[in-house]
Amino acid sequence: MTQNQSRILAVKEGQTPPLAELAALIRTYTPEDREFAASLARETAVKRFGKKIYFRGLIEFTNYCKNDCLYCGIRRSNRNAVRYRLGLDEILTCCRWGEQAGFRTFVLQGGEDPYFTDERVAEIVSAIRREFPDCAITLSIGEKSRESYQRFFDAGADRYLLRHETASPAHYARLHPPELTLENRVRCLKDLISIGYQTGCGMMVGSPFQTAENLAEDLLFMKDLNPQMIGIGPFLPHHGTPFRDQKPGTLEDTLFLLSIVRLMLPKVLLPATTALGTIRPGGRELGILAGANVVMPNISPADVRKNYLLYDRKIGTADAPADSYSALREAIRSIGYEPANERGDYQWEDDIHD
Ligand code: 5AD
Repeated sequence: MTQNQSRILAVKEGQTPPLAELAALIRTYTPEDREFAASLARETAVKRFGKKIYFRGLIEFTNYCKNDCLYCGIRRSNRNAVRYRLGLDEILTCCRWGEQAGFRTFVLQGGEDPYFTDERVAEIVSAIRREFPDCAITLSIGEKSRESYQRFFDAGADRYLLRHETASPAHYARLHPPELTLENRVRCLKDLISIGYQTGCGMMVGSPFQTAENLAEDLLFMKDLNPQMIGIGPFLPHHGTPFRDQKPGTLEDTLFLLSIVRLMLPKVLLPATTALGTIRPGGRELGILAGANVVMPNISPADVRKNYLLYDRKIGTADAPADSYSALREAIRSIGYEPANERGDYQWEDDIHD
């Protein structure tokens, strides 16, 4: 057993190593260590979820954004982004297609678009809740006040995705303009959790200026926050941002981090992200084999997909909804897993012992 394999086992046993040890693990892991972590992570996921992979229908309903995050292709300073918004009827049409295709979770994701006031968001959530009482509604629309989050929750939203992006305040400041702070992000995440949302945080792997210590801080932050969902994908440059010439994150680091997260938080809902499928064909399947248990196919209307570009070369932007969806179902079956047509809520109970 190598030193790194003992560190990986310690994570699995709930004895999360201290920051310096985690950073050393991330800096020095070998392909064998990565496979060791993946096989334990896979086993952990299968014990809890069986071979089911939960599907979430992702609706990218606006790419207007008032923020100016340095990494993101829909940042407000990107004058070349072709902006769009979907109306309530278009959103409901996506949900209707999604429901008949088998989706029981709809994820409404967008930039921070002031057009979508709290009233409009609440109206959309209520309309989906009314027509699809058995479906989970996930929002991913950024930083809001506690009151706004409460209002959306009362309208029927169940879950909320808000990546913390990095748990280091100094690193956060190099990825974002000064008006955005880690402090407010964390405030948002804590409000969401205390309101009762199934809440997701997460980060990019290989974002500019990120160190192994930063990723170790992310791990310790997530362990402490104990969220229900974690979104992790590689950083990929977008040509219309200040980070256009920065190196992308790697497939290997992303897979390794997915496995460590699965071992650290065995119950967490962990997607194999679109960015992972973009960095390598079949990347999402590798994510599942590293411990992920969720996929989030795009069910946005075909004509707007090419405009929701957070990074270059994003997959699925030229597909009709049915195409990327059935190909992904098939790919998941081909690695021995089973696409699940169910809500796939977080299992709060600690009912698995070994
Ligand atoms: N590369 C990879 N992921 C990105 N995101 C934004 N821009 C990029 C990029 N260039 C991620 C952020 C955000 C999520 C919606 O997408 O982590 O929270």
